[in-house]
Amino acid sequence: NFKLFIFDLDGVLTESSEQHFLAWKKLSDELGISIDEKFNDQLKGISRMDSLERILANGGIAENYSKKQKEDLAARKNEYYVSMISQFTEENLNDGVRELFSKLKKHNILIAIGSASKNAPLLLKKLNIEKYIDYIVNPKNLKSKPAPDIFLNAANKWSIEPRDCVGIEDSVSGISSIKSAGMFAIGIGDQKVLNQADIVYKQTKEVNLLDLLK
Ligand code: BG6
Ligand code: MG
Repeated sequence: NFKLFIFDLDGVLTESSEQHFLAWKKLSDELGISIDEKFNDQLKGISRMDSLERILANGGIAENYSKKQKEDLAARKNEYYVSMISQFTEENLNDGVRELFSKLKKHNILIAIGSASKNAPLLLKKLNIEKYIDYIVNPKNLKSKPAPDIFLNAANKWSIEPRDCVGIEDSVSGISSIKSAGMFAIGIGDQKVLNQADIVYKQTKEVNLLDLLK
């Protein structure tokens, strides 16, 4: 009896995962490191600072930068990202999302956002879907995915048992996070990559609520 659906944002509700990648790629190019889409799979779902650390480590240059310099690099990436999504509107909402939200409301199922992104409130506003959302997890003082904390934070908001919650994610770290929270995990993407999920759909519009509620 599912009572709460917790959605990841980037790569689930909109394809902003591409802009995250392009912004990291721009920064990496400037630092003389090359990253590709496959390496990017590791960056999906994890925090801004953790992503930067992985990129620098991948380039073998993590030791070259002080804490302050790393903060500046992360801020620079965020500037690129925010400017890349500046043109986003509700046209960027993935197909099927609004319909899925409406169906969840009809079944009296709560909707939360469990994103690692500090830009989540801005992006939800641009996508014009704030009215469907009952709660947005603030990732600020929570452990990053794959720790369960972000998903558990949403369940705790209403003291809902994890087994009554569904998490929806496009990242490997996110699926691990949902599973270690003890929730039902829906993967969006490639079954081979997201093999820890309970069910995987290629795209968000394929999520079949009635099947899941059976
Ligand atoms: C996640 C994305 O949702 O948020 C990552 O999958 C991103 O790519 C992370 O790095 C942090 O986002 P932000 O907007 O706080 O830098
Ligand atoms: Mg994601």
